[in-house]
Amino acid sequence: MKKYFIVPLALTVLLACNSNESKEGKKDAATEEKKDAAEDISSNPDYQAGLAIVGKSGCLTCHKIDEKLTGPSYRDVANKYAGYPDTIVTHLANKIITGGMGVWGEVPMIPHPAMTQEEAAAAVKYILLLKNK
Ligand code: HEC
Repeated sequence: MKKYFIVPLALTVLLACNSNESKEGKKDAATEEKKDAAEDISSNPDYQAGLAIVGKSGCLTCHKIDEKLTGPSYRDVANKYAGYPDTIVTHLANKIITGGMGVWGEVPMIPHPAMTQEEAAAAVKYILLLKNK
């Protein structure tokens, strides 16, 4: 008599552990975390100002955030310079304005002489925010 009682009970416990509910719970938590990180940087004024400049200056024909095109991905650039002193912003801004090559390969970045130092620095600040946490 006892056996008939225990089997369905065990099944119920098993099903409860495997239920979609608990899996979805975990997924939601992960999605939430990602969203939080994204919201953190996108609410940063440096992010918004820099993104606007990158968008209107034609940078995205050679750069993507996560994929190498003609130029390195912005995520790779950000990770490379994470932890550098603030002077890296001026250095990279100058390079955007005057162009250059040799850091990521032998393909040159074209110069952007129409950009001001402030605009180029804003673009760099945006890019550097894209580093992996
Ligand atoms: C014609 C293609 C092209 C365009 C347009 C372009 N880039 Fe680049 N960019 C490159 C290449 C190629 C490199 C790698 C240069 C190297 O190896 O030193 C690069 C490198 C960079 C780097 C890293 C430099 C370093 O020394 O590590 C930054 C930052 C950057 N680009 C930002 C920008 C921004 C901002 C714009 C828009 C104003 C832009 N790029 C437009 C091709 C381009």
